[in-house]
Amino acid sequence: MTETPLVHLNQVILAFSGKPVLNGIELKIFPRDRLVILGQSGGGKSTMLRLILGILKPTAGEIKYKHLRVNRLSRSKLNLLRSRIGMVYQYSALISSLNVRDNLALPARELGRKPESEIDTLVEEKLALVGMSGTEGKMPSELSGGMRKRVSLARALMMDPELMLFDEPSAGLDPVMSSVIDELIINLTEKTNTTSVIVTHEMDSAFRIATRMAMLYQGAIIQDGSPEEFKTSEDPVVRQFVTGGVEGPMTEQLSDANNS
Ligand SMILES: Nc1ncnc2c1ncn2[C@@H]1O[C@H](COP(=O)(O)OP(=O)(O)O)[C@@H](O)[C@H]1O
Ligand SMILES: [Mg+2]
Repeated sequence: MTETPLVHLNQVILAFSGKPVLNGIELKIFPRDRLVILGQSGGGKSTMLRLILGILKPTAGEIKYKHLRVNRLSRSKLNLLRSRIGMVYQYSALISSLNVRDNLALPARELGRKPESEIDTLVEEKLALVGMSGTEGKMPSELSGGMRKRVSLARALMMDPELMLFDEPSAGLDPVMSSVIDELIINLTEKTNTTSVIVTHEMDSAFRIATRMAMLYQGAIIQDGSPEEFKTSEDPVVRQFVTGGVEGPMTEQLSDANNS
């Protein structure tokens, strides 16, 4: 493929106090991809998102956003870059002491470039996009899990991001609500031509959302391709993960650990 990637994780290595988590990640995210990153819990998926946001720096290798080297940007350039990326955190991460309007307005106010009247209009517009019109005055505690997730999606849309990152968007939601959120992710990213990365370990969700998939295992991307290629993969690890099989390389490792 000759298209220029929006994000390129180039041979990224990351260790936390000597313990390796990512061992040479090579991954390109192309414009308009809805890239689902699959992998076991504790495998380093959230860590990859934090590297893209520049919250973490790699031990070796580099992260590029277009022509920018994310891990070498100054504080002010990094803040500018982050304002172009919408992040939807696992469990929504709304500020409990602020109502919906103020939760949404916060990033725009911090950049300090927009008058309040314009921010109000934006809040209204983004809430409408996620089906939450008229909830400006509500506190997060007054909302259900699914509604909080919608509000956190609206918050991520506030700065009209070029890239959206979703960390386990259906975590803590029932299956019906989680399909509703999946549909919303698909509709929003299509309507706004936004590129997105969705981290999940839920296969139903993954196959609904993905235009492309990448599987993280033992610190590396072991497969990267279309959903169809994942469904028919011959790789034993990918197969076990996709089918949710009890037997396979992933659980052999576990029983080895239990026996030693
Ligand atoms: N800031 C940190 N300091 C030390 N260890 C961390 C830190 N963040 C994550 N880890 C460790 O890195 C590994 C990967 O974590 P994470 O990226 O959260 O996994 P995932 O999102 O795939 O469940 C885990 O073993 C976790 O304990
Ligand atoms: Mg995680």
